[in-house]
Amino acid sequence: MASPFLSAIFIAAIVFFISHSVWFLPSQGAEAAAATNAPPNTRLSSPSHRRCTTLVILGKHYTFCAPSAVAKKKGRTLSERLPREGHAETRRPSPAARVSLSERNHPSIRKRLSREPRRVIRRRAATAAHKHPLRRKHPTGGQPLVRIPATSGRHPSGSPRVRPGAAFPPRPVRNNGETLRNDFYEQTCPQVESIIRNKVSEWVTKDPSIAPSLLRLHFHDAISTGNDASILLKDPIRRSTEMYSGFNGGLRGFDVVDDIKLAVEKSCPGIVSCADILTVIARDVTLEMKGPFWFVPFGRKDSFTSFLSDAVEVPNQESDVNILLKQFDAAGLTFSDLAILTGAHSVGKSHCFSFTGAGAGGANPHMNLTYAQALNQRCKAGPLETVFNDDVTPNILDVQFYTNLKQGRVLFKSDDTIYRDNSMTSSLVDAFLSQPGVWDAQFAVSMVKLANSRVIADPNQGEIRRICSVPNNGLIHH
Ligand SMILES: *[C@@H]1O[C@H](CO)[C@@H](O)[C@H](O)[C@H]1NC(C)=O
Repeated sequence: MASPFLSAIFIAAIVFFISHSVWFLPSQGAEAAAATNAPPNTRLSSPSHRRCTTLVILGKHYTFCAPSAVAKKKGRTLSERLPREGHAETRRPSPAARVSLSERNHPSIRKRLSREPRRVIRRRAATAAHKHPLRRKHPTGGQPLVRIPATSGRHPSGSPRVRPGAAFPPRPVRNNGETLRNDFYEQTCPQVESIIRNKVSEWVTKDPSIAPSLLRLHFHDAISTGNDASILLKDPIRRSTEMYSGFNGGLRGFDVVDDIKLAVEKSCPGIVSCADILTVIARDVTLEMKGPFWFVPFGRKDSFTSFLSDAVEVPNQESDVNILLKQFDAAGLTFSDLAILTGAHSVGKSHCFSFTGAGAGGANPHMNLTYAQALNQRCKAGPLETVFNDDVTPNILDVQFYTNLKQGRVLFKSDDTIYRDNSMTSSLVDAFLSQPGVWDAQFAVSMVKLANSRVIADPNQGEIRRICSVPNNGLIHH
């Protein structure tokens, strides 16, 4: 049932790439960054015969070039120039970096080029967004921008529904962590966790507000399509990847992930996936915020692609408990995980526009009057003003959120609903407050479940990205 429409798009994409000879497209990176608060800091560097794109990661420039005219005839290669002591130096690309167009028929490459029919691609929100650790207001309107007829549904877990006679391979097979191992990198990169730990500590010391943002980044990766680092893939021109969706508005910390990935690559090149790194980052920022420790199982592969429309799987703050439970269920998570993970609103900040303004559909309908008045006062400064999600212990990941919740001192409907509208989640809220230590222990359990949700284990269906924002062959899709 591969529709002629999809085939046409596929062929058009190939023709486009052949005629433009560009792997890393020059971009309006600055505009993209401004629009999303994400830092797709991509710009064009301009030798006329070679189209190059420079990614700026922490002030250092990393340039990726399309092949020269000569190389073009043979099949394309990706070459890379890395800076050294302030000067760009040309280096041979690693074998992993070279992907020839003629290898398009290799099964792993074909996976990358394939796509299931998209259900709906939603309009992205026009505005920059808030820094809420888990959720995001529903994008304005939520009207479908493009509707592609669904020829068949996609299984909620993200695993493929096999279509007879499908022209392209289905989405990668995923599992919920059965293939992961705590000692996965014991032989190949034993120091990976200490590298990440030190880096996270450095970053959080510099800017404590980055900790809840990194936790949120991990959640947004995990909850839509699973832990495959698909949230990190940039596509500054077409804005076709998850990170450009309004559901992912206000995500921050991409530069931190890039920096940590560079440090890991320096010690163990080509070994540790971005999905694994993002998972350890989430654990380590939890420690920085005085939350619990847990062991991280490893072995996730990074996705070849990322689709903006997948971001509809991210919960938003206008949802009631039944919708939230459904979304969690799709990720293999239960009502207890919902009750526990919502406690992450014990840290982080939100923009005033996310709970004030016309309609304010996402605001907590049972808000404590005193609290509401204080918020109104605060938000007179404007819609971009930010407030703490938990104004009692704003930087500590603890059960204070649940005390606030019972007093109506939480910002969002999606918080309030787990206490008001479901007896199972609400009795857990009571339990967290009456039994010290339960929430901390269970937070660790739920975070492991979250991070194991729908991982790609097959090396042919995923890869170890060398740079987290770019697939190794430079092609986002299709
Ligand atoms: C409103 O918040 C205050 C603390 O600021 C608290 O003492 C009070 O009990 C709350 N009201 C309700 C109805 O929970």
